[in-house]
Amino acid sequence: MTVPTLITVPVISDERGTLGVLEGDLALPFTVRRVYFISEVPESIDRGAHAHRRLEQVVIAPTGSVRISLDDGDNHATFVLDSPSKALRIPPGYWRTLDDFAPGTVVVVLASEEYDEGDYIRDHARFIEWTHHG
Ligand code: TYD
Repeated sequence: MTVPTLITVPVISDERGTLGVLEGDLALPFTVRRVYFISEVPESIDRGAHAHRRLEQVVIAPTGSVRISLDDGDNHATFVLDSPSKALRIPPGYWRTLDDFAPGTVVVVLASEEYDEGDYIRDHARFIEWTHHG
């Protein structure tokens, strides 16, 4: 079973700035069908609060910091993306919450499928039911 994994992103920094690279099967374990980004999140706002049935994602915060909490119905894990050198792979079937956004944070999400509202579970009780019964 695939579990959430922090991936180290090679970062090349010099006096001109920072360049990070996601490449290969470890950082990109699926064909990327969609990229979206989240920015300008006001202080104290939480995002996410849903799970995906099939969608896989790799999440980076190239600037700023965000906390991502993941739950598969039994196990809970929390990750902080606070560096361009960190990427988080989120397998399908995890309830996720994004919070504690630092001002100016940009979150970039690489996704395995195009947007499909039917793939979302947005009700937590329904998610728990789904984890036990499908
Ligand atoms: P939402 O799922 O609430 O964002 P998050 O959970 O990451 O905070 O999505 C916000 C809105 O954007 C919602 O109306 C759905 C829409 N949306 C798209 O149209 N395409 C996309 O790829 C995504 C991720 C969201």
